[in-house]
Parts: sequence; C-alpha cells; structure tokens
Amino acid sequence: MKILMVCLGNICRSPLAEGILRSKIENANLNWSVDSAGTSSWHIGAPPHKGSIAIAKENGMDISGQRGRQFSGSDFKEFDLILAMDSENYQNIIGLSIDQSQEDKVKLMLNYAHPGSNMAVPDPYYTGDFQEVFDLLNLACSNLIEQEA
Ligand code: 4NP
Repeated sequence: MKILMVCLGNICRSPLAEGILRSKIENANLNWSVDSAGTSSWHIGAPPHKGSIAIAKENGMDISGQRGRQFSGSDFKEFDLILAMDSENYQNIIGLSIDQSQEDKVKLMLNYAHPGSNMAVPDPYYTGDFQEVFDLLNLACSNLIEQEA
C-alpha cells in the first residue's frame, strides 16, 4: 500500500502525518510506503515548519529531512490512497483527477479518526496548536493501520 498525505503548504500537517504514519508502519513491520505533498507550490523544497519538527521530535520522530513538494496528477498513478487534511485540499486534489478510479483513491484523513464526520485537521500555521494536530493525526494513523493492514 502506497499512501500520500496532502495539505495546502506541505510544511505543517502533511509532513507530520507522513512522519507519524511512517513510524507506525515501521513498528507494525508493514510493507507500506508513505509520502506527502501540498496542493500549492508555495513551499516547494522547504523543510517542515519548526512547530511540526518540534512536536514530532517530542514524540521520538525526526521529520526534519522532509522537503516540500507539490501534488500533481501523476500522483494518482503512483499512490493507492491519497489522504486530504481538509475539504479544500480534497476538492483541489479531485480537480486534478481524470476518472472515477482516481477520485475513489481520495479520502479525508480525519474520517479515520472520527468516521463520517468530514472533520478538517485544523491548520496549525494559523492556530499555532501543533499538539492538537499531533493527537488527531496519531489517532487517524492508528485507525488507518487497523482498518487497512
Ligand atoms: P499546511 O499549512 O497546509 O498544513 O502546510 C500551511 C502552510 C503554509 C501556508 C498555509 C498553510 N501558507 O500560507 O504559506
């Protein structure tokens, strides 16, 4: 299973989601891979936000080596599951799909934490609350592994 985490900037939410899921994949010895991307081009080549790096580090994960990249239509071919952090990300990803099979790969991340809620991962770029984001992503990643492994 190849999973892509997607947010707007690829510096706050999706790099943290990538780091958390990678850690759980390793702990569970799964043959999965995970990557992340942003729908915008704003932070291509940039490291994660210092708040995301710090909360990851507090939880034993090093995400400082990640670099921002932009989501592209070719990601639909590469990945089995594309997880959007909020509904704007979801719509922007869907806008680049070319058929139903590609659309079906896209899901809202927090429906793994709170099924059917269509909740957004609050953007810590604006809220400053990286702990809240870590806790939500941690729960979603645990449930994702439980459901899909
Ligand atoms: P992210 O947060 O989508 O979780 O990476 C943001 C990062 C940067 C900006 C907005 C949101 N920005 O406006 O540059």
